[in-house]
Amino acid sequence: MSERTQVAIVGAGPAGLLLGALLHRHGLESVILEARSREYIEARIRAGVLEQGTVDVLREVGVGERMDREGLVHSGIYLRFDGSSHHIPMSELTGGRSVMIYGQTEIVKDLVAHRLQTGMPLRFECHAVTVDRLSSDQPVVRYSQGGTDHELECNIIAGCDGFHGVCRGAIPADVLHVWEREYPFAWLGILADVGPSTDELIYAQHEQGFALHSMRSLKVSRLYIQVEPDDDIANWSDQRVWDQLHARLASEGWELNEGPVLEKSITPMRSFVAEPMRYGSLFLAGDAAHIVPPTGAKGLNLAVADVTMLGEGLVEYFGSGSDAGLQEYSDRCLRRVWRAQHFSWFMTTMLHTNPRDDDYGRRLQRSQLDYVCSSQAAAASLAENYVGLPLTRASATALGNG
Ligand code: PHB
Repeated sequence: MSERTQVAIVGAGPAGLLLGALLHRHGLESVILEARSREYIEARIRAGVLEQGTVDVLREVGVGERMDREGLVHSGIYLRFDGSSHHIPMSELTGGRSVMIYGQTEIVKDLVAHRLQTGMPLRFECHAVTVDRLSSDQPVVRYSQGGTDHELECNIIAGCDGFHGVCRGAIPADVLHVWEREYPFAWLGILADVGPSTDELIYAQHEQGFALHSMRSLKVSRLYIQVEPDDDIANWSDQRVWDQLHARLASEGWELNEGPVLEKSITPMRSFVAEPMRYGSLFLAGDAAHIVPPTGAKGLNLAVADVTMLGEGLVEYFGSGSDAGLQEYSDRCLRRVWRAQHFSWFMTTMLHTNPRDDDYGRRLQRSQLDYVCSSQAAAASLAENYVGLPLTRASATALGNG
């Protein structure tokens, strides 16, 4: 079976789905192919902090309604160490910018519903996906669905298929450069059916390890603790997780509310960048090209920034025939990616207990925490990165209103 479209999008995570929505807004055609089922992608629990720029783009493509109704706007975070809490007033420090707490899972549901409403193709359970003829302007995606082999011819392939996807691997090894760092720890996360014990997120540094109190709504909490990288979830009864959360988040006069655990899983932590993000007619976006440790809450936001820039480039390309935006795509994304890499590494090293660290390293870490909590300049730098730097060149707004 053979078919043609303008943009073949591999992967229906937030990057692929949002790109499809951006293109549709500008009258461009795309087909989205996803390896998993709709039920699977709508159930997997992921991050939940949206930068202002991410919120703006979601509103502009018309999927912001439920987010605006159910999301929680936060104007600061707490850093907690030595049993005391320090508030970083991010909005005050960034000229009024804030973040929105709204789960990636909910964004995926909103984007899938939007896509189905537009009637544009979104295919689930597509297997054996391969991409080919990347050096031409007539690339092709081959896949099989329901026992039938398909060929999708197109002008551009968007590789939004995540870290384990096939697209990055289609770039020749002598072209692709990879930078990587593994951390000697992982995060164990729980979703708990209990209202948050805090009004804003708490990032805690503790000698037994990092802990984070986040949330999904006023009724559901999301909490994390640092564990060993090869730790087994079977070692962690719900009560053992709560005990560690109590110990690591402890602060005079503050109490942590416990509730039934709805989900529990361990995520490894790594930093990863693949360059360039373009090879011929293949453009990588999101986790297919880069991974950050979750401490800076940047993974989803980077994916949104990538596809916003890719969308701009594609609208220009199909509209006026100019490939200027596409030519710039990789460099422009990578500048933002490396800033987020640094920020995520900075937050991770400042807040985790590294078993390989010596006393000197621990003193440096403490000095950095003290500095961020006592210097307005240091706090402003953290805040500016956390709420997200604006997109350079044309703004996301220009794309949405085009
Ligand atoms: C989350 O709510 O899942 C979350 C929040 C902040 C982070 C990472 C994850 O830095």
